[in-house]
Amino acid sequence: MKIDDIKNICIVGAGNMGHQISLHCAIMGFNTTCTDVSEEILAKAEAFVDKYLAGRVEKEKLTQEQADAARSRIRFTSSLEDAAKDADYVIEAVLEVLDLKRKIFADLDRITPPHAILATNSSAIVSSKIADATSRPEKVINLHFFNPALVMKLVEVVQGPHVSDETVQVSMDLCERLEKVSVHVKKEVKGFLLNRILLSIFKEAFWMLDMDVASIEDIDKACVFGAGHPMGPFTLNDLTGIDLQYTMNMETFRETGDLADLPSPSVVERYVKGHYGQKTGKGWYDYSEK
Ligand code: 3HC
Repeated sequence: MKIDDIKNICIVGAGNMGHQISLHCAIMGFNTTCTDVSEEILAKAEAFVDKYLAGRVEKEKLTQEQADAARSRIRFTSSLEDAAKDADYVIEAVLEVLDLKRKIFADLDRITPPHAILATNSSAIVSSKIADATSRPEKVINLHFFNPALVMKLVEVVQGPHVSDETVQVSMDLCERLEKVSVHVKKEVKGFLLNRILLSIFKEAFWMLDMDVASIEDIDKACVFGAGHPMGPFTLNDLTGIDLQYTMNMETFRETGDLADLPSPSVVERYVKGHYGQKTGKGWYDYSEK
């Protein structure tokens, strides 16, 4: 398979990452289908697409013709069968639940044409835990985008031991067509490349908060004004989701058994209250007024 064989992309999961990846693929010229089991999430995703494209035209980042063409290339459906049956490349972006992903990949293996590559955007689950749910493990790979996916250039292409060089090459070529910057992660390590670095920053930030060394605002300020980060760790954690933070910490703890890998008390406190960050209106900061 070569990059020119990819015309149709299917995104499974229309949440924050899923709908932004879908829209980006459509803007970059691919026929894109985005699917989710929730009609409500699909409706929200479609509303986002319309609003975003109108905003791009208003800001003169896209012409009306480009926005209309992108809109005509993206389709939303609650039927996985309908979304995936003609896909050349699939990107799964559902919740970080292993059994759910394995079920979806088994279904995708049945539905999609045999040449299709099946990628997961998972932050925490490596593709070797999913690949054997399919009959094509060499075509099952981690393709990891960053939030907000329409803006952040980086995509990690993670090569587990079962992944063929061809799948890696086509995935990196796809990133280029999407005008993203890909990096080849040659081993399946926890957190891959960037999250591994970011998680250690988050860990220190949470520790300083829990130890009452400084406030959330001041820790954020330190990273922005002292290290030139675009946003501090707490603002970033509200963007990516405290639920994801909790899941990733628990996943690490299950593997290592090291108590130091458990989510920090302040993360747990917010997680149990359902305060996940921007998406719930409250996390480290309160967004209800905005
Ligand atoms: N969705 C889509 N586009 C967005 C957006 C969003 N949520 N937020 C901002 N943008 C766009 C704006 O439309 C604008 O586009 P334009 O310049 O083409 O008009 C551009 O981004 C800049 O926006 P603003 O001027 O409003 O705001 P900032 O300059 O502060 O930039 C930011 C916002 C791009 C989010 C910047 O703060 C940033 O880079 N933050 C760091 C984000 C980051 O580290 N992401 C990685 C998280 S880790 C991850 O995702 C891994 C996962 O596994 C958890």
